Amino acid sequence: MIDFFQFYSPTRIVAGKPGLLGELAPELAPFAGLRAGIVTDPVLGTMTYFRSLETSLTEAGIEVAAFYQDVPQDSDVDVVHVVRDLFTANRCNMIIAVGGGSVIDTAKAVNIVMTHGGDLRDYQGAHILTETLLPLVVVPTTVGTGSEVTMVAVVADSQDKRKLTLLDHRLSPTLAVLDPQVTFSLPPKLVAATAMDALTHALEAFVDLEHSPFSDLWAVAAADIIRDNLATALQPEGFAQARARLQWASTMAGIAFNHSMVGIVHAMAHALGAVAKTPHGVANSLMLTEGLQFNSEEVADRIADIGVRAGFVKAMSDTSATAQAMIAAVAALRATACRTTGMPETLAQAGVRRDQLPLLVERACEDGSLLYNPRQATDDDILQMFERVLDG
Ligand SMILES: [Fe+2]
Repeated sequence: MIDFFQFYSPTRIVAGKPGLLGELAPELAPFAGLRAGIVTDPVLGTMTYFRSLETSLTEAGIEVAAFYQDVPQDSDVDVVHVVRDLFTANRCNMIIAVGGGSVIDTAKAVNIVMTHGGDLRDYQGAHILTETLLPLVVVPTTVGTGSEVTMVAVVADSQDKRKLTLLDHRLSPTLAVLDPQVTFSLPPKLVAATAMDALTHALEAFVDLEHSPFSDLWAVAAADIIRDNLATALQPEGFAQARARLQWASTMAGIAFNHSMVGIVHAMAHALGAVAKTPHGVANSLMLTEGLQFNSEEVADRIADIGVRAGFVKAMSDTSATAQAMIAAVAALRATACRTTGMPETLAQAGVRRDQLPLLVERACEDGSLLYNPRQATDDDILQMFERVLDG
């Protein structure tokens, strides 16, 4: 019996047909008169749809007061402080993020230091913010992060080879805009990696200690859509509708893990990002079935349950067999994604070296995501998982 749960998802979501960004003025009306600071990355800043967003901002009476388009793949505390200085100097009083998880989490972190002052490292932890944050409008451009609807930001501290986790309800974006158009120009490999991140969010949210009937619904829906659409979304023809659906699934999985959190797969993925700079989606893709296998000792019933409810497998009389079939189905989906796009299938293919394993284990073991995992892991458990994936 679950003792207690709550469901709070304050972000307004708008979604629609391709080109929504150019017709956004009515949705942006609540922010009329504000001075926006825009955060994005070097590639996205040149996209045509970006100009459509700027037209909508002008129509809504929002001035673009500052523009930062140099957020790297794994954003960093130093980047956050640079953007904070730029936006403060230009008297920005709202923030717009257009990008993947790194860009969105940078925007959330900038929002903290703009409103609270000081160094971002001072705010690592959960529910320690005290001030009202600036309005934050988010346009996710991948099909994985979910950060557009979560209260979490993860930012690297490169000096220390660590990831800072910042968690507070105040970090939930004000408005999330899902325009399918932004997914059409994504390389298939990025679609594959970010969709595997979203699938990991859904599966970890479902099996985690904090899951509830409310988070389960979003997790099942997201996993079902990803199973049904990932292969098509990677093909050169007919991918548009599949990518639009993956975009919805990514946001649904974000709502799921915002309530149930993530687990051991993310602990290992965060370590891979911090130590070896493995892209987050690739890291989750590499470690997902290992994490499921590890957890199946404790929660085979939950793995079997989402496997059946999300259409991966048919229920069998034996729960353990159903869970194993589910893990095999996830492995098969990932194998298809890897074969189609060239996404790495081993840590070695992703550039991870054996001599990095001790630090990877150390960083994974100190990651907060482990708190919510249904089975406790020792250093040795985690080392074995990394070793099994190192060379395949
Ligand atoms: Fe993730």
